[in-house]
Amino acid sequence: MKGIILAGGTGSRLHPTTLAVSKQLLPVGDKPMIYYPLSVLMLAGVTDILIISTPHELPRMRRLFGDGAQLGLRLAYAEQEKPRGIAEAFLIGADHVGSDAVALALGDNIFHGSSFQGVLRKEAEELDGCVLFGYPVKDPQRYGVGEANASGRLVSIEEKPVRPRSNRAITGLYFYDNEVVDIARRLRPSARGELEITDINRTYMERGRARLVDLGRGFAWLDTGTPESLLQASQYVSALEERQGIRIACIEEVALRMGFINAQACYELGARLSGSGYGQYVMAIAEECTGRV
Ligand code: G1P
Repeated sequence: MKGIILAGGTGSRLHPTTLAVSKQLLPVGDKPMIYYPLSVLMLAGVTDILIISTPHELPRMRRLFGDGAQLGLRLAYAEQEKPRGIAEAFLIGADHVGSDAVALALGDNIFHGSSFQGVLRKEAEELDGCVLFGYPVKDPQRYGVGEANASGRLVSIEEKPVRPRSNRAITGLYFYDNEVVDIARRLRPSARGELEITDINRTYMERGRARLVDLGRGFAWLDTGTPESLLQASQYVSALEERQGIRIACIEEVALRMGFINAQACYELGARLSGSGYGQYVMAIAEECTGRV
């Protein structure tokens, strides 16, 4: 399965902070926001990932991750000149996807839950059509909203409905089989002039090939779109990290635990960042893994 991270957009709700730097590079806790969706794809076992961003921001993303080899990944980069909708990711990324299935992660979505890796691996392995991940929220009208039947089949989906039929927001992580590229090619722009991911998902639903997996209570799906929600996300991450002495979305640790890199390589990545608590954590994780490096 290939991966795409969509990290474009203007971040207008975070202006003036995002006038000169993209939202996805802002810190959430102790690391850039984009580390979170990247770690989600890695946990799903995806190593071949295309990062899509604005022409302005791509050089910064590249500076952050390079070709990804240090993490055992293959990272590529592509431009989305203007925000023309999430579904455009499959047009920009068509060559990258090739004949594979694909996982799309939005660059500003933060997921955290203890059994998440198992869910991701299972859904990626058993993918047949598309898999969406739903999360109960108190303000569903701000999101794509879906309903599933008892067996988990998606039976309704609407984008930012005025009167939502459920409280299940569709989160910004989507698994698709290869048909998604064809479906995206046939898509017409919505009233707001965008290629909507919800229209792709509706097509799968109409074909009876969309699943909605519930990420229920005890799981965190956090928003980062406004100054308040960004601060809350940071506080959530910091509180857990502080309390447990772990780091959420530490991509070096994920790479090590997934077997993408060995302990020595992990230690060296940490050593480059040893001026920060993050870097020291990466070194400690590597040492723990071998007993000694
Ligand atoms: C987009 C999607 C929406 C989804 C949300 C998740 O909305 O259109 O269906 O629920 O991402 O973050 P946007 O954030 O672009 O308004």
